[in-house]
Amino acid sequence: MRRFVGTLPLLGLMVGISTTVFSEDAAPSSGDESNAPLYSVQNGNQVDDDTLQGWRTWRALACERCHGAAQEGMVGPSLVESLKTLTKEEFHEIMMNGRIEKGMPPFNTSQMMQKNWEGLYAYLKGRSDGKIEPGRLTAIGK
Ligand code: HEC
Repeated sequence: MRRFVGTLPLLGLMVGISTTVFSEDAAPSSGDESNAPLYSVQNGNQVDDDTLQGWRTWRALACERCHGAAQEGMVGPSLVESLKTLTKEEFHEIMMNGRIEKGMPPFNTSQMMQKNWEGLYAYLKGRSDGKIEPGRLTAIGK
């Protein structure tokens, strides 16, 4: 159902209406911290607050300059692909130290990154899982 919405941009205009029709809870809260979902998404473009901060960090730090606005890769690799295998620990290490000799800058001096790297990981996971759509996001229920 959600894919149907995504492939017909005109239906984006109906987002207010489609929320009830197409909403999907991709990662229902379990209440158990160890199984806690990385992110929650509805309608492809509404996410929980941490994931929203992750997306804002992506935008603020202009990762799309090298990885593309839809994360599908330019001079940097496709993160849609990378996040299929990259662990959270590996991701954190790359964000903090970069891979300078290969053209990936470090972001350890960014407060926004220090604060939101987990939300950024969650956001990119959602993109990689095909659950979060490229482009603008808003908070669930707003
Ligand atoms: C100046 C260009 C540039 C910018 C800006 C940039 N990257 Fe990268 N990034 C790269 C390149 C090039 C690589 C590949 C490094 C390598 O070959 O190991 C990379 C690698 C990565 C990887 C590892 C991919 C893998 O498969 O190992 C991740 C994750 C990543 N970048 C995320 C980000 C995020 C998130 C941002 C924004 C905070 C960002 N990058 C900003 C160029 C960039």
